[in-house]
Amino acid sequence: MLIQEDFLKGVFMSVFNDDFYWGGAVAANQCEGAWMSDGKQPNITDVMVGINSKEPGLRWNDENKKWEMALDENKVYLSHEGIDFYHRYKEDLELMSGMGFNCFRTSIAWGRIFPNGDEEEANVKGLQFYDDLFDEMIRLGMEPVVTLSHYETPLHLMTEYGGWINRKTIDLWKRYVMTVFERYKGKVHLWLTFNEINNLLRRPVVSAGILSTEPVDKNDPLKVSDKEIWQAYVNLLVANAWTVKIGHEIDQGNRIGCMMSSSAVAVYPYTCDPDDVWGAFQTQRFSNYYFSDPFCLGFIPGYVKRIWKEKGLQPEYDDRDLKMIEDHTVDFYSFSYYLSGTYSRDTINTFDTGGLRGRENPYLRFKAPEPWGWAVDPQGLRYVLNAVYDRYHLPMFIVENGVGLDEGPDENGQIHDGFRVTYMREHLKQIKEAVKDGVDVMGYLYWGPIDIVSAGTGEMKKRYGFIYVDRHNDGTGSLRRSKKDSYEWYKKVIASNGEDLD
Ligand code: BG6
Repeated sequence: MLIQEDFLKGVFMSVFNDDFYWGGAVAANQCEGAWMSDGKQPNITDVMVGINSKEPGLRWNDENKKWEMALDENKVYLSHEGIDFYHRYKEDLELMSGMGFNCFRTSIAWGRIFPNGDEEEANVKGLQFYDDLFDEMIRLGMEPVVTLSHYETPLHLMTEYGGWINRKTIDLWKRYVMTVFERYKGKVHLWLTFNEINNLLRRPVVSAGILSTEPVDKNDPLKVSDKEIWQAYVNLLVANAWTVKIGHEIDQGNRIGCMMSSSAVAVYPYTCDPDDVWGAFQTQRFSNYYFSDPFCLGFIPGYVKRIWKEKGLQPEYDDRDLKMIEDHTVDFYSFSYYLSGTYSRDTINTFDTGGLRGRENPYLRFKAPEPWGWAVDPQGLRYVLNAVYDRYHLPMFIVENGVGLDEGPDENGQIHDGFRVTYMREHLKQIKEAVKDGVDVMGYLYWGPIDIVSAGTGEMKKRYGFIYVDRHNDGTGSLRRSKKDSYEWYKKVIASNGEDLD
């Protein structure tokens, strides 16, 4: 008898806690479609074919002195229909539930609730949609994790006010978050504020929802001044603090996290040249910590203030703003991790949605297939978990990790995605190591459990899912869903609470 008990204990004892969150993550703008349905108005990603695009569908109107939407009829805006999650979410959530998900992350498209961002009253149909969506998740045993802003700033807020450059946006944001916190009280307890907001310096327009209302270049909406960028930075810090305050006041059960793109924490010096070491360190700061330090520790770091001082970029704020930032830090740290990068003094560093690319790391054995070719560095995830946990001592939530592959059914209709399974297996092994190192890891949400439109390139071809969706770059396809090999594998992983990774 004793032997049997010991055996069972050995089999079921897991590195992960019993309440570990297992699931997947998507974003409204990449899956919902229905971009102009039920009152919704365009947001910034609706006018772009991929957020890496250098040509957003915007033009300067010299008469009214504003940017306006100008879609290019030669382009296919796949996100407008997405994978039609707006109408098919029940079927999709059922498939997620089939893998044993106890958690599912999506975003609320701000423009479904306040279509232009500045209305007095919320859009009832938008509110109802998310009510139904969250109810369905809960019915299927999935805890909703909700991102309040995932590259979805209403376009009108940007063209009319400059978006986050303008302080008025903080008030409009407060109205929005108050509305959704009230409405979904008791249904949603886990909230993320701004998705990968630390991409502000790399991709200000989309990541932070800003447009120059007095443009530097009328032919290029993506050009914003450094002064505007740093003003948006402070406004976003203040808005983040308000979100935490309002969220806690409305429901003490709410836990509110920041959401950082943390691949760039794993930026290694290419050599031990002190310039490379210092450069890597500064890259970590200005890619990640410049946002997460104020979010988690409650103050604006000296390395940021130095730039303002030396370059004459001091933004406007007052002591009350600083007090807000200090008093309302986040409850947990959530992040994405896709790849690691290197910093070398003699290389121009490039960035992608996954993180810093830099010079190819000769010590890594794998990279994802071309054309994206992202470095595969599972140990980098252990590094990020430990480095960030050591700094903040907050629970860590992996809310994005995954690999995009160009794949399709074989002659038997099967999709063999062994590369994805290997990618995940190796990353999960490293997460376990981090837990053993003492890091408090709340959960693992795989990015893109169902094929959706790629954020960076706007394609369908870059597929992350365990579930294949029949839709293609030219917009054709039946939208039919089918399971890939990884579906059963992840199901097994979840059922064993991460113990069975074979
Ligand atoms: C993250 C984003 O940067 O990376 C997601 O939060 C995105 O929205 C993901 O989809 C993967 O990037 P991509 O460009 O491959 O879709």
